[in-house]
Amino acid sequence: PRRVRVHHLQAAKERGERLTMLTAYDAPTARIFDEAGVDMLLVGDSIGNTMHGHTTTLPVTLDEIVVAARAVAGAVERAFVVADLPFGTYEAGPEQALASAVRVMKETGVSAVKLEGGLRSVPQIRALTQAGIPVVAHLGYTPQSENALGGPRVQGRGTGGAEQVSEDAVAVTEAGAVAIVLEMVPAPVAARVTEVVRVPTIGIGAGPECDGQVLVWVDMAGMGDWSPRFAKRFGEVGRALGAAARGYVDEVRSGTFPAAAHTFDA
Ligand code: KIV
Ligand code: NA
Repeated sequence: PRRVRVHHLQAAKERGERLTMLTAYDAPTARIFDEAGVDMLLVGDSIGNTMHGHTTTLPVTLDEIVVAARAVAGAVERAFVVADLPFGTYEAGPEQALASAVRVMKETGVSAVKLEGGLRSVPQIRALTQAGIPVVAHLGYTPQSENALGGPRVQGRGTGGAEQVSEDAVAVTEAGAVAIVLEMVPAPVAARVTEVVRVPTIGIGAGPECDGQVLVWVDMAGMGDWSPRFAKRFGEVGRALGAAARGYVDEVRSGTFPAAAHTFDA
């Protein structure tokens, strides 16, 4: 299958084809999602919550993203792979952002990086873009700012809020962003942003009018016992994995496994 490249994202928007994105944090899941036809894979800093047992994304390090991103990028044939720049690796300014993004590009093989923030992140987006590194922006609810935002709350409600999201979207687009993730914004606001910006919008809790959708894979697949309201559980992978583990335990305890087929002769 032909690799999804940056110009395909734009072309998809122009043709009205919806883009699909899932998070991935390791090679085996990345391969499964790539073979399923997912267009974009995000090595999200949600790895902190989903895989490393943190309650927020704030402790995630660039080292952790690099290891995961290398595994994901190495496993896919088609998907466009994006790596998150974690909290504390780009806020100081364009130089810090460039150093972090260059390291990710050199050491992983991903196609783009993502960072949070609108106007405040414009200098960083511009610097990375000028260096030839595609940037995905992230607006609305931005989990790295959860302490300032007061937890996961819908952003962009009311006229002022909607205006703010639109202004941010236009600003990051003009700075060179190749796509915009919109998280937890009212559907009409996301629809309006999708209309006014040239680049594709990828929604999560942002309604059906975005150019694409993204979900955290453990929420999408029903890996944990809880998924947020905006995520639909398309499977019960946690239950399936539990059943497999119980079967293994039972068969080892009863002596059914390993059988002759799993055993070497002298
Ligand atoms: O880290 C992540 O999973 C994300 C998505 C929720 C967009 O940033
Ligand atoms: Na993220």
